[in-house]
Amino acid sequence: MPHIARSVEQVPHSRIRELAEIAMSMDGVLRLYFGESNLPTPDYIKRAAVQAMADGYTFYTENAGLPSLRRALAAYYQRLQGVELNPETEIVVTASGVQALQVGIRCLLDPGDEALVLTPAWPNGSSIVAMASAVPRQIAHPLCGDRYRIDFDALRSAVTPRTRMLLYTSPSNPLGWVAAEEEQQQLLDFCRQHGLWLVADEVYDRLYYSAARLGEPVPSILRKATRDDAVLVVHSFSKSYCMTGWRVGWLVARSDVARKATQLNEFIISHAPSFAQKAAETALIEGEAELVRMLERLKENRDLCLDALRGMPSVTVPKPDGAFYLFPKIDGLDDSFEFCRRLLLETKVGLAPGVAFGAGGEGSVRICYAAGREILEPAMERLRRFLSA
Ligand SMILES: Cc1ncc(COP(=O)(O)O)c(C=O)c1O
Repeated sequence: MPHIARSVEQVPHSRIRELAEIAMSMDGVLRLYFGESNLPTPDYIKRAAVQAMADGYTFYTENAGLPSLRRALAAYYQRLQGVELNPETEIVVTASGVQALQVGIRCLLDPGDEALVLTPAWPNGSSIVAMASAVPRQIAHPLCGDRYRIDFDALRSAVTPRTRMLLYTSPSNPLGWVAAEEEQQQLLDFCRQHGLWLVADEVYDRLYYSAARLGEPVPSILRKATRDDAVLVVHSFSKSYCMTGWRVGWLVARSDVARKATQLNEFIISHAPSFAQKAAETALIEGEAELVRMLERLKENRDLCLDALRGMPSVTVPKPDGAFYLFPKIDGLDDSFEFCRRLLLETKVGLAPGVAFGAGGEGSVRICYAAGREILEPAMERLRRFLSA
Protein backbone atom coordinates (compact mmCIF):
# COMPACT_ATOMS: atom_id res chain seq x y z
CA MET A 1 0.00 0.00 0.00
CA PRO A 2 1.63 3.35 -0.97
CA HIS A 3 2.01 5.63 2.04
CA ILE A 4 2.53 9.30 2.73
CA ALA A 5 6.20 10.32 2.69
CA ARG A 6 7.82 9.87 6.10
CA SER A 7 9.39 13.31 5.70
CA VAL A 8 5.96 14.91 5.88
CA GLU A 9 4.41 12.47 8.35
CA GLN A 10 6.84 13.75 10.97
CA VAL A 11 5.76 17.39 10.54
CA PRO A 12 3.83 18.16 13.74
CA HIS A 13 0.25 19.46 13.76
CA SER A 14 -0.38 23.00 14.99
CA ARG A 15 -1.88 22.81 18.47
CA ILE A 16 -3.26 26.34 18.06
CA ARG A 17 -5.25 25.07 15.09
CA GLU A 18 -6.35 22.00 17.10
CA LEU A 19 -7.82 24.25 19.79
CA ALA A 20 -9.28 26.62 17.18
CA GLU A 21 -11.10 23.76 15.50
CA ILE A 22 -12.96 22.96 18.70
CA ALA A 23 -13.76 26.67 19.11
CA MET A 24 -15.00 26.99 15.54
CA SER A 25 -17.60 24.30 16.17
CA MET A 26 -19.06 26.43 19.01
CA ASP A 27 -21.17 29.60 19.02
CA GLY A 28 -20.47 32.75 21.00
CA VAL A 29 -16.76 32.13 21.65
CA LEU A 30 -14.56 35.11 22.61
CA ARG A 31 -11.84 34.31 20.11
CA LEU A 32 -8.37 35.33 21.23
CA TYR A 33 -6.46 32.32 19.92
CA PHE A 34 -5.43 33.42 16.43
CA GLY A 35 -2.79 36.04 15.72
CA GLU A 36 -4.84 38.59 13.89
CA SER A 37 -6.63 41.84 14.47
CA ASN A 38 -10.41 41.88 14.51
CA LEU A 39 -10.26 45.08 12.44
CA PRO A 40 -11.04 44.71 8.75
CA THR A 41 -8.47 45.76 6.14
CA PRO A 42 -8.67 49.57 5.86
CA ASP A 43 -10.84 50.86 3.02
CA TYR A 44 -8.03 52.71 1.22
CA ILE A 45 -6.28 49.34 0.72
CA LYS A 46 -9.46 47.63 -0.50
CA ARG A 47 -10.07 50.49 -2.94
CA ALA A 48 -6.50 50.15 -4.24
CA ALA A 49 -7.11 46.45 -4.95
CA VAL A 50 -10.32 47.20 -6.85
CA GLN A 51 -8.54 49.91 -8.82
CA ALA A 52 -5.65 47.52 -9.54
CA MET A 53 -8.07 44.95 -10.97
CA ALA A 54 -9.66 47.65 -13.12
CA ASP A 55 -6.17 48.67 -14.26
CA GLY A 56 -5.42 45.15 -15.45
CA TYR A 57 -3.38 43.72 -12.55
CA THR A 58 -4.98 40.33 -13.09
CA PHE A 59 -2.12 38.65 -14.99
CA TYR A 60 1.03 36.87 -13.84
CA THR A 61 3.78 39.07 -12.41
CA GLU A 62 7.53 38.52 -11.98
CA ASN A 63 8.46 35.66 -9.60
CA ALA A 64 10.15 38.27 -7.36
CA GLY A 65 7.00 40.41 -7.33
CA LEU A 66 6.07 43.64 -9.09
CA PRO A 67 9.12 45.88 -9.57
CA SER A 68 7.06 48.86 -8.34
CA LEU A 69 6.29 47.07 -5.05
CA ARG A 70 9.94 46.12 -4.58
CA ARG A 71 10.93 49.73 -5.17
CA ALA A 72 8.30 50.85 -2.65
CA LEU A 73 9.73 48.37 -0.13
CA ALA A 74 13.27 49.67 -0.69
CA ALA A 75 12.01 53.24 -0.14
CA TYR A 76 10.18 52.08 3.02
CA TYR A 77 13.40 50.58 4.47
CA GLN A 78 15.29 53.73 3.55
CA ARG A 79 12.69 55.93 5.24
CA LEU A 80 11.99 53.89 8.37
CA GLN A 81 15.21 52.01 9.01
CA GLY A 82 17.85 54.07 7.20
CA VAL A 83 18.83 50.89 5.32
CA GLU A 84 19.73 50.86 1.61
CA LEU A 85 18.45 47.84 -0.28
CA ASN A 86 18.67 47.02 -3.94
CA PRO A 87 15.06 46.33 -4.97
CA GLU A 88 16.17 44.27 -7.94
CA THR A 89 18.51 41.89 -6.16
CA GLU A 90 17.80 41.90 -2.42
CA ILE A 91 14.00 41.94 -2.06
CA VAL A 92 11.62 39.13 -3.01
CA VAL A 93 7.88 39.61 -2.65
CA THR A 94 6.19 36.46 -1.36
CA ALA A 95 2.63 35.25 -0.94
CA SER A 96 2.73 35.96 2.84
CA GLY A 97 5.22 35.91 5.67
CA VAL A 98 4.83 32.17 6.06
CA GLN A 99 5.76 31.68 2.41
CA ALA A 100 8.80 33.95 2.87
CA LEU A 101 9.83 31.71 5.76
CA GLN A 102 9.17 28.60 3.69
CA VAL A 103 11.13 29.62 0.61
CA GLY A 104 13.89 31.28 2.66
CA ILE A 105 14.48 28.23 4.85
CA ARG A 106 14.26 25.93 1.81
CA CYS A 107 17.22 27.83 0.34
CA LEU A 108 19.36 27.24 3.44
CA LEU A 109 18.83 23.68 4.63
CA ASP A 110 19.66 20.25 3.26
CA PRO A 111 18.03 17.09 4.64
CA GLY A 112 19.60 16.21 7.99
CA ASP A 113 20.80 19.76 8.68
CA GLU A 114 19.94 21.38 11.98
CA ALA A 115 18.38 24.75 12.75
CA LEU A 116 18.46 26.57 16.07
CA VAL A 117 15.09 28.12 16.81
CA LEU A 118 14.54 30.52 19.69
CA THR A 119 11.32 29.59 21.46
CA PRO A 120 8.59 29.92 22.66
CA ALA A 121 7.82 30.83 19.07
CA TRP A 122 5.12 30.64 16.47
CA PRO A 123 5.28 26.93 15.58
CA ASN A 124 5.53 27.40 11.82
CA GLY A 125 9.28 28.11 11.89
CA SER A 126 10.14 24.73 13.44
CA SER A 127 7.58 22.95 11.25
CA ILE A 128 9.02 24.48 8.09
CA VAL A 129 12.47 23.29 9.15
CA ALA A 130 10.96 19.81 9.56
CA MET A 131 9.32 20.09 6.12
CA ALA A 132 12.81 20.60 4.69
CA SER A 133 13.72 17.21 6.27
CA ALA A 134 15.95 19.09 8.68
CA VAL A 135 15.91 19.13 12.48
CA PRO A 136 14.78 22.08 14.61
CA ARG A 137 16.68 22.49 17.90
CA GLN A 138 14.58 24.68 20.13
CA ILE A 139 16.30 26.93 22.65
CA ALA A 140 13.96 28.48 25.21
CA HIS A 141 14.17 32.12 26.22
CA PRO A 142 14.64 32.18 30.00
CA LEU A 143 12.58 34.72 31.92
CA CYS A 144 15.00 36.71 34.08
CA GLY A 145 13.12 39.04 36.41
CA ASP A 146 10.64 40.81 34.19
CA ARG A 147 12.40 40.31 30.85
CA TYR A 148 13.04 37.38 28.53
CA ARG A 149 16.68 36.88 27.52
CA ILE A 150 18.59 34.85 24.99
CA ASP A 151 20.39 31.85 26.43
CA PHE A 152 23.69 32.11 24.59
CA ASP A 153 25.24 29.27 26.63
CA ALA A 154 22.45 26.94 25.51
CA LEU A 155 22.87 28.18 21.93
CA ARG A 156 26.61 27.48 21.99
CA SER A 157 26.05 23.99 23.42
CA ALA A 158 23.47 23.19 20.73
CA VAL A 159 25.76 23.90 17.78
CA THR A 160 26.88 20.75 15.94
CA PRO A 161 28.66 20.24 12.61
CA ARG A 162 25.17 20.00 11.00
CA THR A 163 23.91 23.34 12.34
CA ARG A 164 23.19 25.74 9.48
CA MET A 165 20.91 28.47 10.71
CA LEU A 166 19.39 30.30 13.65
CA LEU A 167 15.81 31.61 13.56
CA TYR A 168 14.58 34.24 15.97
CA THR A 169 11.42 36.37 16.06
CA SER A 170 11.43 39.93 17.31
CA PRO A 171 8.96 41.23 18.32
CA SER A 172 8.11 37.73 19.42
CA ASN A 173 4.98 35.76 18.89
CA PRO A 174 3.96 34.72 21.58
CA LEU A 175 6.12 36.62 24.09
CA GLY A 176 5.90 40.18 22.81
CA TRP A 177 9.60 40.30 23.72
CA VAL A 178 11.76 42.58 21.57
CA ALA A 179 15.45 41.84 21.09
CA ALA A 180 17.60 44.66 22.47
CA GLU A 181 20.15 46.12 20.07
CA GLU A 182 23.02 44.45 21.95
CA GLU A 183 21.19 41.11 21.72
CA GLN A 184 20.84 41.57 17.96
CA GLN A 185 24.56 42.29 17.75
CA GLN A 186 25.33 39.19 19.84
CA LEU A 187 23.14 37.03 17.59
CA LEU A 188 24.88 38.37 14.53
CA ASP A 189 28.34 37.81 16.07
CA PHE A 190 27.33 34.28 17.14
CA CYS A 191 26.20 33.41 13.62
CA ARG A 192 29.28 34.96 12.02
CA GLN A 193 31.51 33.04 14.41
CA HIS A 194 29.82 29.69 13.77
CA GLY A 195 29.22 30.18 10.05
CA LEU A 196 25.42 30.13 10.41
CA TRP A 197 22.60 31.86 8.57
CA LEU A 198 20.67 34.27 10.73
CA VAL A 199 16.96 34.34 9.90
CA ALA A 200 15.08 37.20 11.56
CA ASP A 201 11.31 37.10 11.57
CA GLU A 202 10.40 40.79 11.80
CA VAL A 203 6.73 40.59 10.84
CA TYR A 204 5.70 42.48 14.00
CA ASP A 205 8.31 45.25 13.76
CA ARG A 206 5.69 48.00 13.37
CA LEU A 207 3.74 46.84 16.44
CA TYR A 208 6.13 48.44 18.90
CA TYR A 209 5.10 50.36 22.00
CA SER A 210 8.43 51.42 23.53
CA ALA A 211 9.73 53.74 20.81
CA ALA A 212 10.03 57.48 21.39
CA ARG A 213 6.99 57.85 19.10
CA LEU A 214 4.27 55.31 18.28
CA GLY A 215 4.79 54.21 14.69
CA GLU A 216 8.57 53.96 14.89
CA PRO A 217 9.54 50.40 14.06
CA VAL A 218 11.79 48.13 16.06
CA PRO A 219 15.26 48.64 14.57
CA SER A 220 15.81 45.92 11.97
CA ILE A 221 18.74 43.51 12.11
CA LEU A 222 19.50 44.94 8.66
CA ARG A 223 20.86 48.06 10.37
CA LYS A 224 23.60 45.96 11.95
CA ALA A 225 24.28 43.45 9.19
CA THR A 226 26.00 44.23 5.91
CA ARG A 227 24.38 43.14 2.66
CA ASP A 228 27.06 40.43 2.40
CA ASP A 229 26.16 38.92 5.76
CA ALA A 230 24.33 35.59 5.79
CA VAL A 231 21.12 37.26 6.99
CA LEU A 232 17.50 36.85 5.89
CA VAL A 233 14.59 38.96 7.07
CA VAL A 234 11.07 37.59 6.82
CA HIS A 235 8.22 40.09 6.65
CA SER A 236 4.54 40.47 5.93
CA PHE A 237 1.72 42.90 5.26
CA SER A 238 -0.60 40.81 7.45
CA LYS A 239 -0.08 42.39 10.85
CA SER A 240 0.78 46.04 10.20
CA TYR A 241 -2.04 46.59 7.71
CA CYS A 242 -4.72 44.07 8.82
CA MET A 243 -4.17 42.08 5.62
CA THR A 244 -3.98 38.51 6.92
CA GLY A 245 -6.27 37.16 4.19
CA TRP A 246 -4.46 38.87 1.34
CA ARG A 247 -1.32 36.75 1.53
CA VAL A 248 1.45 39.21 0.73
CA GLY A 249 4.83 39.30 2.43
CA TRP A 250 8.47 39.67 1.53
CA LEU A 251 11.96 38.42 2.09
CA VAL A 252 15.11 40.53 2.30
CA ALA A 253 18.15 38.39 1.62
CA ARG A 254 21.71 38.32 0.41
CA SER A 255 21.50 38.53 -3.36
CA ASP A 256 22.42 34.86 -4.02
CA VAL A 257 19.60 33.67 -1.75
CA ALA A 258 17.18 36.25 -3.16
CA ARG A 259 17.96 34.97 -6.66
CA LYS A 260 17.39 31.34 -5.64
CA ALA A 261 14.20 32.17 -3.69
CA THR A 262 12.90 34.01 -6.75
CA GLN A 263 13.50 30.95 -8.90
CA LEU A 264 11.93 28.56 -6.35
CA ASN A 265 8.86 30.80 -6.12
CA GLU A 266 8.05 29.70 -9.66
CA PHE A 267 7.52 26.14 -8.44
CA ILE A 268 5.78 26.98 -5.16
CA ILE A 269 3.34 29.81 -5.86
CA SER A 270 4.84 31.71 -8.83
CA HIS A 271 4.10 35.00 -7.07
CA ALA A 272 1.69 36.77 -4.74
CA PRO A 273 -1.67 37.77 -6.30
CA SER A 274 -1.09 40.68 -8.68
CA PHE A 275 -3.81 43.06 -7.45
CA ALA A 276 -2.94 42.25 -3.81
CA GLN A 277 0.65 43.29 -4.52
CA LYS A 278 -0.59 46.57 -5.94
CA ALA A 279 -2.80 47.16 -2.89
CA ALA A 280 0.16 46.34 -0.63
CA GLU A 281 2.16 49.04 -2.42
CA THR A 282 -0.56 51.56 -1.53
CA ALA A 283 -0.46 50.36 2.11
CA LEU A 284 3.27 51.15 2.29
CA ILE A 285 2.84 54.59 0.81
CA GLU A 286 -0.40 55.74 2.47
CA GLY A 287 -0.69 53.58 5.58
CA GLU A 288 1.08 55.51 8.34
CA ALA A 289 -1.82 57.44 9.89
CA GLU A 290 -4.07 54.38 10.06
CA LEU A 291 -1.22 52.31 11.48
CA VAL A 292 -0.64 54.78 14.31
CA ARG A 293 -4.38 54.75 15.13
CA MET A 294 -4.24 50.96 15.34
CA LEU A 295 -1.16 51.12 17.59
CA GLU A 296 -2.88 53.50 20.00
CA ARG A 297 -5.75 51.06 20.31
CA LEU A 298 -3.44 48.04 20.67
CA LYS A 299 -1.39 49.73 23.38
CA GLU A 300 -4.57 50.47 25.35
CA ASN A 301 -5.67 46.86 24.91
CA ARG A 302 -2.30 45.59 26.10
CA ASP A 303 -2.49 47.71 29.24
CA LEU A 304 -6.08 46.73 29.93
CA CYS A 305 -5.27 43.00 29.72
CA LEU A 306 -2.02 43.40 31.62
CA ASP A 307 -3.80 45.15 34.50
CA ALA A 308 -6.47 42.47 34.57
CA LEU A 309 -3.94 39.61 34.48
CA ARG A 310 -1.79 41.12 37.21
CA GLY A 311 -4.81 41.02 39.50
CA MET A 312 -5.37 37.29 38.96
CA PRO A 313 -4.12 34.57 41.28
CA SER A 314 -1.01 32.55 40.28
CA VAL A 315 -0.29 34.55 37.12
CA THR A 316 3.10 36.01 36.15
CA VAL A 317 3.21 38.20 33.07
CA PRO A 318 6.04 40.45 31.92
CA LYS A 319 5.10 43.67 30.11
CA PRO A 320 5.70 43.09 26.41
CA ASP A 321 7.18 45.81 24.19
CA GLY A 322 5.81 44.59 20.88
CA ALA A 323 3.44 42.43 18.80
CA PHE A 324 -0.12 41.93 20.10
CA TYR A 325 0.21 39.05 22.51
CA LEU A 326 0.43 38.42 26.23
CA PHE A 327 1.90 35.14 27.42
CA PRO A 328 1.00 34.78 31.10
CA LYS A 329 2.58 31.96 33.04
CA ILE A 330 0.21 30.17 35.38
CA ASP A 331 1.72 28.60 38.49
CA GLY A 332 1.38 24.83 38.61
CA LEU A 333 0.03 24.53 35.05
CA ASP A 334 1.50 21.50 33.30
CA ASP A 335 -1.06 20.84 30.56
CA SER A 336 -1.85 24.11 28.82
CA PHE A 337 -3.84 22.39 26.06
CA GLU A 338 -6.21 20.81 28.55
CA PHE A 339 -6.43 24.12 30.43
CA CYS A 340 -7.39 25.97 27.23
CA ARG A 341 -9.85 23.25 26.23
CA ARG A 342 -11.62 23.43 29.58
CA LEU A 343 -11.56 27.22 29.61
CA LEU A 344 -13.13 27.17 26.16
CA LEU A 345 -15.83 24.61 26.96
CA GLU A 346 -16.72 26.08 30.35
CA THR A 347 -16.42 29.83 29.69
CA LYS A 348 -16.30 30.23 25.88
CA VAL A 349 -12.96 32.05 26.05
CA GLY A 350 -10.61 30.80 23.34
CA LEU A 351 -6.88 31.15 24.09
CA ALA A 352 -3.88 29.43 22.50
CA PRO A 353 -2.10 26.84 24.66
CA GLY A 354 1.53 27.64 25.50
CA VAL A 355 2.59 24.12 24.57
CA ALA A 356 1.91 25.03 20.92
CA PHE A 357 4.93 27.34 20.96
CA GLY A 358 7.62 24.77 21.64
CA ALA A 359 10.30 24.61 24.33
CA GLY A 360 9.56 26.97 27.20
CA GLY A 361 5.89 27.36 26.22
CA GLU A 362 4.22 24.80 28.48
CA GLY A 363 2.75 26.34 31.62
CA SER A 364 1.57 29.49 29.81
CA VAL A 365 -1.28 30.56 27.55
CA ARG A 366 -1.25 33.08 24.73
CA ILE A 367 -3.77 35.88 24.56
CA CYS A 368 -4.06 37.90 21.37
CA TYR A 369 -5.29 41.32 22.46
CA ALA A 370 -5.97 42.70 18.97
CA ALA A 371 -9.69 42.57 19.66
CA GLY A 372 -12.30 45.08 20.83
CA ARG A 373 -12.75 45.96 24.51
CA GLU A 374 -16.22 44.42 24.33
CA ILE A 375 -14.43 41.08 23.84
CA LEU A 376 -11.35 41.62 25.99
CA GLU A 377 -13.15 42.82 29.13
CA PRO A 378 -15.52 39.84 29.50
CA ALA A 379 -12.72 37.45 28.44
CA MET A 380 -10.46 38.73 31.23
CA GLU A 381 -13.31 38.57 33.74
CA ARG A 382 -14.16 34.98 32.79
CA LEU A 383 -10.49 33.96 32.95
CA ARG A 384 -10.22 35.54 36.42
CA ARG A 385 -13.25 33.61 37.63
CA PHE A 386 -11.97 30.38 36.08
CA LEU A 387 -8.60 30.76 37.79
CA SER A 388 -10.19 31.68 41.10
CA ALA A 389 -12.58 28.70 41.12
C1 LIG B 1 6.04 35.29 13.96
C2 LIG B 1 5.22 35.21 12.71
N1 LIG B 1 5.84 35.17 11.54
C3 LIG B 1 5.16 35.10 10.39
C4 LIG B 1 3.79 35.08 10.38
C5 LIG B 1 3.14 34.97 9.05
O1 LIG B 1 2.14 35.82 8.74
P1 LIG B 1 1.50 35.74 7.31
O2 LIG B 1 1.78 34.40 6.73
O3 LIG B 1 0.04 35.99 7.50
O4 LIG B 1 2.15 36.81 6.50
C6 LIG B 1 3.10 35.08 11.59
C7 LIG B 1 1.63 34.97 11.63
O5 LIG B 1 1.02 34.74 12.65
C8 LIG B 1 3.83 35.15 12.78
O6 LIG B 1 3.23 35.19 13.98
